Amino acid sequence: MKNKFYITTPIYYPSDNLHIGHAYTTVIADALARYHRQIGDDTYFLTGTDEHGQKIQRRAEAAGKTPQQFVDEIVSGIRDLWDLLQISNDDFIRTTESRHEERVQRIFQRLYDQGDIYKSEYEGLYCTPCETFWLERQVVDGKCPDCGREVEKVKEESYFFKLSKYADRLLAHIEAHPEFIQPVSRKNEMINNFIKPGLEDLCVSRTTFSWGIKVPFDPKHVVYVWLDALTNYITALGYPDEPDLFNRYWPADAHLVGKEIVRFHTIIWPIILMALDLPLPKQVYGHGWLVLDGGKMSKSKGNVVDPVVLVDKYGVDAIRYYLLREVPFGADGTYSEDALILRINTDLANDLGNLLHRSLSMIEKFAGGIVPTPHNYEELDEALIQEAKTALAKVMGHMEKLETSDAVSAIFSLVGKANKYIDEAAPWALNKQGKKERLATVLYTMAEVIRITSVLLVPFLVETPERIWQQLGLSGKPTDQLLTEATQWGQFPAGTKVRKGAPIFPRIEVEKEEKTEKKTDQAAPARAEKDETKAEITIDEFAKIDLRVAQVLAAEKVEGADKLLRLTVKLGGEERQIVAGIAKYYSPAELIGKEIVVVANLKPVKLRGVLSQGMLLAASQGDKLAVLTPDRSVGDGAQVR
Ligand code: MSP
Repeated sequence: MKNKFYITTPIYYPSDNLHIGHAYTTVIADALARYHRQIGDDTYFLTGTDEHGQKIQRRAEAAGKTPQQFVDEIVSGIRDLWDLLQISNDDFIRTTESRHEERVQRIFQRLYDQGDIYKSEYEGLYCTPCETFWLERQVVDGKCPDCGREVEKVKEESYFFKLSKYADRLLAHIEAHPEFIQPVSRKNEMINNFIKPGLEDLCVSRTTFSWGIKVPFDPKHVVYVWLDALTNYITALGYPDEPDLFNRYWPADAHLVGKEIVRFHTIIWPIILMALDLPLPKQVYGHGWLVLDGGKMSKSKGNVVDPVVLVDKYGVDAIRYYLLREVPFGADGTYSEDALILRINTDLANDLGNLLHRSLSMIEKFAGGIVPTPHNYEELDEALIQEAKTALAKVMGHMEKLETSDAVSAIFSLVGKANKYIDEAAPWALNKQGKKERLATVLYTMAEVIRITSVLLVPFLVETPERIWQQLGLSGKPTDQLLTEATQWGQFPAGTKVRKGAPIFPRIEVEKEEKTEKKTDQAAPARAEKDETKAEITIDEFAKIDLRVAQVLAAEKVEGADKLLRLTVKLGGEERQIVAGIAKYYSPAELIGKEIVVVANLKPVKLRGVLSQGMLLAASQGDKLAVLTPDRSVGDGAQVR
């Protein structure tokens, strides 16, 4: 029996073109959908646009267009953007489509008929950009607590939805299903800030503007835009009149939403579903924001980053990779083009691209371009085969928890291990020594680990896996088999002729950047001598350093080097080895279990022949040295900023 998997993104306001922050949500949802297809789940992935409401009506008026003309143009750009990013959604729902409007009217009518909606008068505050009602006690100095903009006073006849009637049931559900709101911090926020202080009935219709779905029995009212929008997750499946898709996919397995709209999805939405007697979504995941220099991206601040420009400049997979990898899911992350370029150059060009390129070059040079038949696997090969299995297990574990960043990082840890394998197996030396059988095994192992890597990358990157596959000379596609089948070791057909092409990710050369760095380097010694501080750097330069919390799993002295300790640390999804010159100050036992701070993106080096994948931070003065640790536990992988 196949499992089913129904995943949604929020439906986006077509009030402006979308930016990289919106692309972030959609790319993550896409990776999850692709992953579930790859493991054989009956998957359905929905996205769309939230087109009604006062905000859109005002924007259209300002642009001198009818609301419909206005949204049609922007929605067409949104569809183009998703095509560009190769988003694999099964449906795209627009709330202005009649299939949606009619179903919303039926739902509204039913809630009214059963007494869950009643007529009264609303007097209170409203934030139009967020389309949110606020109580006096919730606003901060007359401003919306979510977006910080002025709220407006509104007084109008309205229909109300009895949220209060369902508050206890909702609380009981949230408490009985700890997985319902993720991450857990958001669950506590919902309970303590919104549910426990008391839920007021919600105003669900407006009369002071007309751009919305008409209340069927009282057409001077339009349905409140959030009620209209939230129901898209079921109207798109045909609820209530065409139940086939609905019965097949509801309840949603994951609603992916930004942190500021978790509240709508974990309070209003479940209560609508309870009132309709429908099962609740299994999980609402509130992710963090992609911010720019400390602030959220927004058109009004003039600091938006256009994903179309970035895809044109760097390619779809580079952008997808960056979005999926850079920010640990749930946390906020800072976008910078420097960090993007760094990711492309280090992970994609240096690590992955180079793994493929050097492997194919060696297969060409030492085996005439034909992948040889392997002989006996030795310990070194077995260790890499085991790493490939571990990477698969980690990817699956993380994807179950929606942790795309950790999943991608587990794949790149395998890439790192494969590069290290080549260094250690040294095919060039085997060739020189005429060790033909051993050489054949090593070359085969290289080709096979790359094949498996390309299969693991399928949910995340949309062009690269196939390009790797082509260069490997393989027939078929990396998407042809299920994940667990395709990653079984030994399927690479020996005798295949490889087809080395251009590097899959050319390095991005940033001349201007390098020049600035050089200048800084030259200036540094003079200043440093004078006041022992270093030359000034920009925040972007600082942002290139990926500081992370890691947990020490094991520590031991490095033989023959009395200053060095070899630490095995856990960092996000992976284990790393770090060599540190602290043996004089710390015994290995003192360090085990500690959370420490490491530079995670430092180019690996060998110290006394031992590989060090990063550097730990320590403060020192005179003969004192102290390893830096966070003053309370934050978990490995946490960013240090
Ligand atoms: N229309 C509502 C959602 C209705 S769902 C039933 C809405 N639309 S939105 O266009 O403003 O935002 C859509 C999603 O984009 C939200 O989840 C929001 O968090 C996300 N993002 C908008 N800016 C973002 C960043 N800068 N970073 C990450 N996500 C961002 O809210």
